[in-house]
Amino acid sequence: MLMSKEPALKAGGAEAHEIKTFTGSRGLEIEEGLIFEIGRPENTGVDLDEPLPFEHRLGALERQEAPGLPGLSEPETMRHYVRLSRQNYAIDTGIYPLGSCTMKHNPRLNEKLARLPGFADIHPLQPQSTVQGALELIAELARWLTVLTGMDAVALPPRAGAQGEACGLMAIKAAIAAKGEAHSRKIVLVPESAHGTNPASAAGAGFAVRPVPARADGVLDPAEVEKRLGADVAAIMLTNPNTCGLFEKNIVEIAGLVHAAGAYFYCDGANFNAIMGKTRPGDLGVDAMHINLHKTFSTPHGGGGPGAGPVALSAALSPFAPVPFLRRDEAGLRLVEHAGDSANSLGRIAAFHGQMGMFVRALAYMLSHGADGLRQAAEDAVVNANYVRACLKDLMSQPFGDRLCMHEVLFDETWLKPLGLTTLDFAKAMIDEGFHPMTIYFPLVAHGAMLIEPAETESKASLDLFIAALRDLAFAAKRGETERFVGAPYHAPRRRLDETRAARNPVLKWTKPGA
Ligand SMILES: Cc1ncc(COP(=O)(O)O)c(C=O)c1O
Repeated sequence: MLMSKEPALKAGGAEAHEIKTFTGSRGLEIEEGLIFEIGRPENTGVDLDEPLPFEHRLGALERQEAPGLPGLSEPETMRHYVRLSRQNYAIDTGIYPLGSCTMKHNPRLNEKLARLPGFADIHPLQPQSTVQGALELIAELARWLTVLTGMDAVALPPRAGAQGEACGLMAIKAAIAAKGEAHSRKIVLVPESAHGTNPASAAGAGFAVRPVPARADGVLDPAEVEKRLGADVAAIMLTNPNTCGLFEKNIVEIAGLVHAAGAYFYCDGANFNAIMGKTRPGDLGVDAMHINLHKTFSTPHGGGGPGAGPVALSAALSPFAPVPFLRRDEAGLRLVEHAGDSANSLGRIAAFHGQMGMFVRALAYMLSHGADGLRQAAEDAVVNANYVRACLKDLMSQPFGDRLCMHEVLFDETWLKPLGLTTLDFAKAMIDEGFHPMTIYFPLVAHGAMLIEPAETESKASLDLFIAALRDLAFAAKRGETERFVGAPYHAPRRRLDETRAARNPVLKWTKPGA
């Protein structure tokens, strides 16, 4: 399986990274400045007429100097943005094994359908009689989601998983208030392995967080949950499959305990890709669950948006769904816009009805796969993760032992530590090999976590290359070739950055030299 490696340069030559070029470019990878640095104010990409004589009327408000816009010709502008786009690593350029993110291929068919003028060009303020087709699409998407989740209703407004969490917790809060328990139920149980958005959403919705530790085998112990349940608990937030890539096999028992204590069961459905078409969360006792359309249903991960995180709600919670929601009457489909029209609604959580472009893409994905295709996608995602696990388990350590995983496989730093290396070193060396690293240092319950989620859209050939590269790196680490790791990346446009400084003191503003 191992690939033979050519030395970087012929014997006697310097290492590739030691040779500096005059331009800063490397081969055909061009060093690109900021648009302000490469532009010249006197330059322009458009041929503007000289303005006709006019009288200045701005008085003291008149600009004293030119606005400092970057001046570039059209070809220079084109090149600038195309070069920048080539510095982006994307799922369209290679495997993107970020655990917890489900970076699957976004089928181009979805893109084509989302661009149909009837969907792309409508406006949220158009009269509803003119957008009945779009409303029909939203209703159909909601129907698929309720069937797949086995839940009663779906709230479509949330724009991301985290907003879905907030929405679900607000529905829980409204349900608790309706029972007259608003002042007593103030706690949300959150497992220690949870994604950071879970405790943040609970706190944002006004709850206090009570953590629940995981068992040595990586899943929750019902007894630990039971110990923490009481008349002060509003809900539990549980991710299934959990962030360690393991199925919470005691979920039904936990749901029973939670309901018996008068609390609600929020399931973080970010990992739904592993179980769609296989298990219906509603059957497991879930009351609310968000679904990241940008993960499971292949809509693009748009750098923080636009996304969609619909929330499926049980019969107990659906009366508290946010507005707007759809109703069908004699005139067709109607968006109910005001909380007053629905006595218990928690109100509005975002403008308009959601991300139409994402809805079109998600429904296109569902219809083109069909029910059997969705199930197959989930099965393939799990098979791919287990293939990676089986091929790396002899070299890398797993925090909860070697067991079948779901859609992602978790390794940790235990095997690297005695070699004097860290997870970060290993991840940086992967960049030199042309691979985007896996998710690192999450979940926090594993020391130096490396969470690999290949997703079902990777072929065996692509996985084999990825695995071979990781095995080669692992062997190099074990042979003591520490330099290959601690100085990595050597071949990226930038060497290793001070990530703490970059996060704490980001330089986000360009200052004109000499200003
Ligand atoms: C387990 C889990 N929960 C919640 C979220 C939040 O989803 P979003 O990024 O859409 O807000 C994520 C995102 O990665 C996640 O992995």
